[in-house]
Amino acid sequence: MPAIEVRPARKGVNVTLTVPGDKSISHRAILMNSIASGRAEIRNLGPGADVMSSIGCMRQLGVAIEQQGETFVVHGAGPRGLRESSAPLDCGNSGTTTRLIAGILAGQPFATTLTGDASLSRRPMRRIATPLRQMGAEVEGDTLPLTIRGGQLHGIEYQPEVASAQVKSCVLLAAVYGDGPTVLTEPVATRDHTERLLSALGARIQNEPPRITVWPASELRAVDIEVPGDMSSAAYWLVAGLLLPDASVTVRNVGMNESRTGLLDVLGEMGARIEVLDQREVGGEPVADLRTSTSELRGVSLGGAMIPRLIDEGPILAVAAALADGTTSIRDAAELRVKESDRIGAVAAGLKTLGAEVEELPDGLIIHGGKPLGGGALQTMGDHRLAMAWAIAGLASQEGVSIDDPDIASISYPDFWDDLERFAA
Ligand code: S3P
Repeated sequence: MPAIEVRPARKGVNVTLTVPGDKSISHRAILMNSIASGRAEIRNLGPGADVMSSIGCMRQLGVAIEQQGETFVVHGAGPRGLRESSAPLDCGNSGTTTRLIAGILAGQPFATTLTGDASLSRRPMRRIATPLRQMGAEVEGDTLPLTIRGGQLHGIEYQPEVASAQVKSCVLLAAVYGDGPTVLTEPVATRDHTERLLSALGARIQNEPPRITVWPASELRAVDIEVPGDMSSAAYWLVAGLLLPDASVTVRNVGMNESRTGLLDVLGEMGARIEVLDQREVGGEPVADLRTSTSELRGVSLGGAMIPRLIDEGPILAVAAALADGTTSIRDAAELRVKESDRIGAVAAGLKTLGAEVEELPDGLIIHGGKPLGGGALQTMGDHRLAMAWAIAGLASQEGVSIDDPDIASISYPDFWDDLERFAA
């Protein structure tokens, strides 16, 4: 698709939508059921290209994964049933695929090479190579391509330097192949989907924050999973509901895992009107319908333990902050520089294009909000979350925006631009 124009939204938007299944949970549902025994049915699997990368890699390792209508069926190979792949595994744009599958490959008695696209090939992998080497795997490379020669691993005690659910998950999955328990101490709590699913698959795991212990497992039991809607995708529509005039936006069936709801807490502090409706549980995860309506937002300061709880919502939060009264400061978020793009640099540049006053810090942003956003040409930098955040900025802008690479949204949300039509003037 060529560049897309997003015009200011019409007044009085009243929209109800659903969003794709949670990307983080979807990856885990595929990868972890692949090393369990038995058949798992996965409903509402995230349809984005990233999750398809996980499916592609597992198929190459000999796991049968079929699509039956809306349901994906994984025929688990068991922890030791994967087959060596003759070709490298292409992880596409997906950091989650790379880092989680690396933990599994570290326990296999063969070598595998992981490759990815240009963005993924720039992202840091030493953070997983270091603990996997300590566990006894041979890992060549600190960025992609990465070659992992696995085998019998040792249980280790490990404290990652960065707060990262991907690094944590890599170590916890490798721990299944240890000769004794592995203890991981998190510097700051991150999303816990891997811990929940390991437990559901029958692994022995003890989660006593900040320490997580996983014992080796010779067997895991495949489990059916109903994936809740993705908070990180809902975020765009929820912020649209707050920023647009006379608006009300409802997103149904959104995953409300505590480790993922930081955006709701911060927006609440900024004065957002957010209703949490029909709270319930789906597949062992809390879920709710969420409704936002036009609100006068004010700036806020955030950092520390809040950051991992909204790590993927940085760009859309910055858009909200640019239209909030007063100053917003986002600190302790240096990890944003090593996502699908440098999200600190890219967000600062894009907001400045729209006329906002933004200061870039090594670990965050200071946004002096309250001025309307004008319009202009915005870049995705090959980053799906920037594409979607810029679309909402366009809806809330005075003159509209153009976005250079709209197709990139399909990494997590293939129908994003169709859903955006509901807001069109
Ligand atoms: C994810 C963890 C986060 C997040 C990514 C998905 C996961 O990355 O940004 O989109 O599913 O574990 P880090 O763990 O590197 O912070």
